[in-house]
Amino acid sequence: MLQTNFVNHTFENPLMNASGIHCMTVEEMKELANSKAGAYVTKSTTLKERAGNPSPRYVDVPLGSINSMGLPNLGIDYYLDYVSEAQTKTETPIFFSIAGMSVAENIEMLEKIQASDFHGVTELNLSCPNVPGKPQVAYDFDLTEETLEKIFAFFTKPLGIKLPPYFDLAHFDQMAAILNKYPLTYVNTINSVGNGLYIDVDKEQVVIKPKDGFGGLGGEYIKPTALANVRGFYTRLNPSIKIIGTGGIRNGQDAFEHLLCGATMLQIGTELHKEGPAIFERIASELEDIMEVKGYKSIDEFRGKLRSITD
Ligand code: FUM
Repeated sequence: MLQTNFVNHTFENPLMNASGIHCMTVEEMKELANSKAGAYVTKSTTLKERAGNPSPRYVDVPLGSINSMGLPNLGIDYYLDYVSEAQTKTETPIFFSIAGMSVAENIEMLEKIQASDFHGVTELNLSCPNVPGKPQVAYDFDLTEETLEKIFAFFTKPLGIKLPPYFDLAHFDQMAAILNKYPLTYVNTINSVGNGLYIDVDKEQVVIKPKDGFGGLGGEYIKPTALANVRGFYTRLNPSIKIIGTGGIRNGQDAFEHLLCGATMLQIGTELHKEGPAIFERIASELEDIMEVKGYKSIDEFRGKLRSITD
């Protein structure tokens, strides 16, 4: 019932982790591989290992989460070694996330991936809001285009990009016009809503240490923004560019809403952090229940079919 075709593969269901959650170490990634997730993605990596920002740097709050991790990761070779080995044990493509600190670093990592025997999907993260002094690349349209131009001059494996949220329809138009020039496999929308501020009112203090408490928001706070971005890009991108919907998925209804807006795969961050990998089984079963009540036998029957009010 939940089977999903994506990158020439049939996934058992569309559910995955969002990069950064439960995917830093081999142990965590193996837990995802053994869970009911339809697929999984590695932590966004840089060329060299990074310690990231000082703690506390990720805090669950009542309506979601706030984080400023700062891209802690174990370096590209750690993740490339893992996926190269793991892909021999499963037919399910693994997603490999990269987030270089510069265009040159992204190119160098993609050259490594191109030369490797990894045959899964690469996710280029252009939207991390948490590295002090490094603005999110995808808010700079010229830099995004320059990056994609350089990448597609040599990279031939499946590639998607992870975007930050946009808040103006003119920006959806501008970004979609750029993305439509390239053979992207998918667009993952959205990363956290950058630079929110959560306050502990008893202490009259911020709750995370980096950047004076400013951090990316996830969870319930961001679902309407995520749905708008899924819909905004689904209606503007070439149909060959699929959408991964990320943001605020806590239950089957949230998953259904993302699919109705046009998502093909779905990533879960904040709620996975709160609940652990058992969440995939729960959400898959809740989604199936909703589909059964509505009489849908497959996701394709309703994907993207959100109605406008026309009368
Ligand atoms: O700070 C972080 O590691 C988060 C990365 C992201 O949101 O892409």
